[in-house]
Amino acid sequence: MKILVVGSGGREHALAWKLAQSERVQMVYVAPGNGGTAHDARLVNVNITDLHALADFVEQEHIGLTVVGPETPLAGGIVNLFRSRGLKIFGPTKEAAQLESSKDFAKAFMQRHGIPTAKYQTFSDVAQAHAYIDANGAPIVIKADGLAAGKGVVVALSLEEAHRAVDDMLADNRFGDAGARIVIEEFLAGEEASFIVMCDGKNVLPLATSQDHKRLKDHDQGPNTGGMGAYSPAPIVTPAMHARVMREIINPTIAGMARDGIVFTGFLYAGLMIDADGNPRTLEFNCRMGDPETQPIMARLKTDLLSVMEHAVNGTLNQVELQWDRRTAVGVVLAAAGYPDAPVKGAVISAIPAETPEAVTFHAGTALGGETGNQLVVTGGRVLCTVGLGDSVKLAQRQAYDVVDQISFDGMQCRRDIGWRGLKH
Ligand code: AMP
Ligand code: GLY
Repeated sequence: MKILVVGSGGREHALAWKLAQSERVQMVYVAPGNGGTAHDARLVNVNITDLHALADFVEQEHIGLTVVGPETPLAGGIVNLFRSRGLKIFGPTKEAAQLESSKDFAKAFMQRHGIPTAKYQTFSDVAQAHAYIDANGAPIVIKADGLAAGKGVVVALSLEEAHRAVDDMLADNRFGDAGARIVIEEFLAGEEASFIVMCDGKNVLPLATSQDHKRLKDHDQGPNTGGMGAYSPAPIVTPAMHARVMREIINPTIAGMARDGIVFTGFLYAGLMIDADGNPRTLEFNCRMGDPETQPIMARLKTDLLSVMEHAVNGTLNQVELQWDRRTAVGVVLAAAGYPDAPVKGAVISAIPAETPEAVTFHAGTALGGETGNQLVVTGGRVLCTVGLGDSVKLAQRQAYDVVDQISFDGMQCRRDIGWRGLKH
């Protein structure tokens, strides 16, 4: 079977890498892909991003299944379009993707269905937003309603910062339409975890748990990023916590969507905040896998991903039992100089060590180019993600950082502490 993976990041490289390991997969196309997917003999990049042109390509090439990585094509209705043309695709419809594409939709949904989350209110009026902040005090969290590539959230520690965020989003239109409405919510303290499941419209299949590292610098300092590394499993999600999250968050979400007339298919990612008393609450939903969470999760998945995807599009996920590598996987992101504000492109990347059973490096912002046309160069903020596997967090870190230390490019940034919360447990 031929497969199409839509996207160009580390998440998509990891999904394509895993799909290509299936004996029944003849070819994996990645649209548009990156330097790593261009380099891999089992993967083929296709330079198409228009959704109709992608559907045409899938028909022409007789591609049997499409898997979507990022939120933008999902919010743009790629699943609706492909299904209307009779093409098999795994992902949520545009309507279901509102859980991610509108924070106001997600918050109202959670409130309506009793799903634990932070107290909130939605505003489009600047004066009312300022008054709400004065009434509630800091710390407080301000979120652009629409998609803002992970940059639309301000965790304001002071009133001044909170008021500035409101002005940026509502008065100065910093995020355009995405910030024309904002959600202001209660600050939640605790430890975060990424809880990702697959849904086929009836059945829910949880993937291995993971934990992201959002801040740029070690010890969770510096600005928020798209994610500087992730590891799996996340020990804070004990078996009891897992059962509770399924019971209180995941199952009510799928059931609530159905009650609202929306069948949820695709990956559902609940970003959790678990407080000191062990109560999980939902910070956000994503309708896709996480990046970089996918990289360590795929490195641990032992089950054939094609067969899982086939069950997912055929509504038979209840027949799947996932097998995971018992080792911990630690994924370290290597980012460009200037990331996240102003990533510098063009640096030439040194040779990348070959994959071993203990470590694999996935590409994100890379392309083949440079002086020879065949050099690997930096084209985006998050450049690579090296995943190491080991019997403990410490051993997995050692495997990952051994490889990281052999890679270099001008201005390369990476955290040295990915997995640190796992060391404490
Ligand atoms: P989001 O894009 O909604 O996941 O928000 C990005 C990051 O902001 C999250 O991963 C958290 O670290 C932080 N965050 C979001 N909402 C809250 C909240 N209510 N309380 C504390 N931190 C939050
Ligand atoms: N790593 C967080 C996300 O993918 O949204």
